[in-house]
Amino acid sequence: MTQLILGQVLTFPGDPFAVPLTQAAHHEVHGAIAVDDGRILGSGPVDEVRAAHPGAAEVDHGDALILPGFVDAHMHYPQTAMIASWGKRLIDWLNTYTFPEEARFSDPAYAAGIAGRTLDLALAHGSTTVTSFCTIHPTSVDALFEAAAARGMAVWGGKTCMDRNAPDDLRDTAQSAYDDSRALLSRWHGAGRANYVITPRFSPTSTPEQLSALGALWAEHPDCLMQTHLSEQVDEIAWVRDLFPDARDYLDTYEAHGLLGANGLYGHAIHLMAREVDRLAEVGAAVVHCPTSNTFIGSGLFDMSLTARMRVGLATDTGGGSSFSMLRTMAAAYEVAQLRGQALHPAQLLWLATEGSARALRAEDRIGTLAPGSDADLVVLDLASTPAITQRSTRAGDIWEAVFPTIMMGDDRAVAQVYVAGRAVRS
Ligand code: GUN
Ligand code: ZN
Repeated sequence: MTQLILGQVLTFPGDPFAVPLTQAAHHEVHGAIAVDDGRILGSGPVDEVRAAHPGAAEVDHGDALILPGFVDAHMHYPQTAMIASWGKRLIDWLNTYTFPEEARFSDPAYAAGIAGRTLDLALAHGSTTVTSFCTIHPTSVDALFEAAAARGMAVWGGKTCMDRNAPDDLRDTAQSAYDDSRALLSRWHGAGRANYVITPRFSPTSTPEQLSALGALWAEHPDCLMQTHLSEQVDEIAWVRDLFPDARDYLDTYEAHGLLGANGLYGHAIHLMAREVDRLAEVGAAVVHCPTSNTFIGSGLFDMSLTARMRVGLATDTGGGSSFSMLRTMAAAYEVAQLRGQALHPAQLLWLATEGSARALRAEDRIGTLAPGSDADLVVLDLASTPAITQRSTRAGDIWEAVFPTIMMGDDRAVAQVYVAGRAVRS
């Protein structure tokens, strides 16, 4: 049965990094979205949508702002319980906090508990899709996709592969990484809303043999995404240079093993050489900006001008990231860009967190927009969720001034409702 969801509605007919704001964004003060059978039928001024769907049931969110649900393009669900761990930088942080926590995922019940907790936290913060690394344990992948299916969520994820420079109980082999990933891929890829992602953690924790084995698997399943980390911290890059003395640069450690391609998703990508930027752009790969992580672990300042060359997604990177909130993540992206002399418009921030991330996942035909035919994954934002935000937004002259205080100061209190495939998550 058709349902109309009423509120302020923002749509993005164009990419706000590529075309002027007047062409990129459309704001409907009294808007509505028509939804049926989990899909968006259309959106527009409430009178027009009502006329097109007479007799439809209505839910009125007043002057709250309806957007596509946020798409978190890179995170680690197994790190949920150790988010905000103090005082280390990347390699120490992995060894001290991350690996001991990930070892606990050999217990399927523990994995199931954290998977459910993570997706509930994501939904509470308005994220309807996450793209997650799992652990080396195949059951950690089952736990993620089972938790996503129970909530009706579109989720991307894969078994994290590591066969060196990790503790004994967190190492697989080139062969078992290939075999386990292949079995998980055939079990989960395309099952409901599940999408399998081939997942070598990063070059330092994979031998060349493992990278090649996963490159071969990707060649057999080129429609799958492949996710990994690239050029996050300066010490990490020096380590990669030692481990791969013949590589031209960090990206080359992937390229030489069949792990550079149009469906590649490279997290962080901060300290890139000119050749790396050129190659990522040439092959049509995507990079993912993780700003709260990059400041929290002290990694560096992502260059937003990359949006002119390639697809860029936005992500929390929990638990290296310090928040589950894509609002907080947009705020951090704004602040990082400011430190590089780049001022991101609220339209650009909201687009990055929705369609930009969906494009990075090559899924903008399904999620991240309000286009007819898309899955009805929505977030409804209260633009007056705290006294501090309210006193600022009541002064606003337009929608951008009204929404920017929520981007900069908002959190899960701003999330008034979330719809997953047309179903309201909160009663
Ligand atoms: N590089 C390799 N593994 C990780 C991880 O778990 N988090 C972050 N931020 N970077 C990584
Ligand atoms: Zn990561």
